Amino acid sequence: MKSNATRVGPVYFQPLEQELGPVAQYLSGHLLNAGSGSRDVSSYLMANAVTKITNYDLASPGPGDVIGALESMPFAEGSFDSVLCNAVLEHVADAEKSIRELARVVKPRGHVVVAVPFLQPFHACPADFRRYTADGLAALGVRAGLEVVCVLPVHSITQTLGWILWEYAQEKGGRLRRSAAWLIAYLATRLWNRTDQTVLKNANTFQAIFRRPPELSPTVWLARAVPWCCDKLPTMLIPDELRLLHYLAEERYTGEGVIVDAGCFLGGSTLALADGLRRNLQRRERLEQKLIHSYDRFEVENYTLGKFFSRSEKAGETFRPLFDRNIAPYATLIEVHAGDVCSWPWQGGPIEILFIDIAKHWTVCDWVTLQFFPWLIPGKSLIIQQDYLYDNWTAWLHITMEFYSDYFEYVCDTGVNSAVFRNTKRIPEDVLREYTVASLSKAEKIELMDRAAARFTDGRADMLRSAKQHFLEMPEES
Ligand SMILES: C[S@@+](CC[C@H](N)C(=O)[O-])C[C@H]1O[C@@H](n2cnc3c(N)ncnc32)[C@H](O)[C@@H]1O
Repeated sequence: MKSNATRVGPVYFQPLEQELGPVAQYLSGHLLNAGSGSRDVSSYLMANAVTKITNYDLASPGPGDVIGALESMPFAEGSFDSVLCNAVLEHVADAEKSIRELARVVKPRGHVVVAVPFLQPFHACPADFRRYTADGLAALGVRAGLEVVCVLPVHSITQTLGWILWEYAQEKGGRLRRSAAWLIAYLATRLWNRTDQTVLKNANTFQAIFRRPPELSPTVWLARAVPWCCDKLPTMLIPDELRLLHYLAEERYTGEGVIVDAGCFLGGSTLALADGLRRNLQRRERLEQKLIHSYDRFEVENYTLGKFFSRSEKAGETFRPLFDRNIAPYATLIEVHAGDVCSWPWQGGPIEILFIDIAKHWTVCDWVTLQFFPWLIPGKSLIIQQDYLYDNWTAWLHITMEFYSDYFEYVCDTGVNSAVFRNTKRIPEDVLREYTVASLSKAEKIELMDRAAARFTDGRADMLRSAKQHFLEMPEES
């Protein structure tokens, strides 16, 4: 096998095969080598789990290689089992567009390995636009909808300093300076060129392993066990809703926004989300932070007496201590917003998962819409409207989701109760109303409720139609 060791002037770099050693386990099946260049690593990769390689480059030298820019690739969505993009993103004109393309062409659950320099001198190929810290590279992948498996350092301090010294001497000129730089860089990088795995912030290059999250299939979460932490917790949610929330936090959440848990009652939704989130963070080696924002009045209501609270309790009394006790093992993940949700303007930035079990009247629904919807992340954020398929009321949820239906797609539901919507496009400022439901005429509301019901052909259509009936009979509406 031809050695893929590289020399830049006097600076020695180990063979690319050696650099790929720590990430080889993530490269398998049909691999796209995006920005493949002239170093041929196919025999090395095929000796591992890779079965086929497509080389792609702006100016590829190999026969059969596909020519084109990373920013717009001629491959269908999900064409590859894994993607390698080594030492390329610093050279592309648009790195955000390029990584979105890498995320698009890999299959769900497939890995994308991206290496880019952090401490390297200018080197055009054909241009040189940027550098990334480990955090910057991770955030780039997350913005493209990828999960970060880990970020590893590559190269040694002698390669970093030797290369900078050499390029400096080249640019500055002077025979003596250049000779001295050449000798120092040559000797140092010949002697010390092994990647220093202990340098995690100031490495020469970072190699990120990303994973495209699995598709959100309408049923994948049904096969999961009900989260054990919810076993003994009194909750109004059905087991499938606990499964769903646990799955979303564990498998879908990427960290680009936070999780809103609006209407947490005794902590059923909170625990399902928190346990899923904890597993998600552990897998991605992330520190725990208060990423879940839980809202409730924490006040006992009449209809809960005898079921969730003893009959000796009184309506209006607080159950916050009970909630705190229930969520105690997960408190590091939860920010509690106690009191009327309408007294809490949202200030927490982008929202990835928005669980709404608090919109028990259209005035609250309108507040929640106004506060939270502008912070949804298009293409990613999921809304769980817990009362969407609830018995025969909450038609304001149908009106709201139908009014903004150009900006959402229906994902799945739990048969009764919760329905999940994905935000597909940002809702323009002039479209989002301050009072969505309250601002609509009766005729408009009826049209929206009819449209929402017409999306179903089974018992769910009946639920929505009876919710419409109930809504029209409400004293404020009649
Ligand atoms: C430093 S080389 C790395 C080659 C190879 N990945 C390796 O590690 O040996 C950078 C490669 O990126 C390619 N490249 C630069 N900009 C590109 C773009 N916008 N789209 C596709 N390839 C690009 C260059 O043609 C070059 O082959």
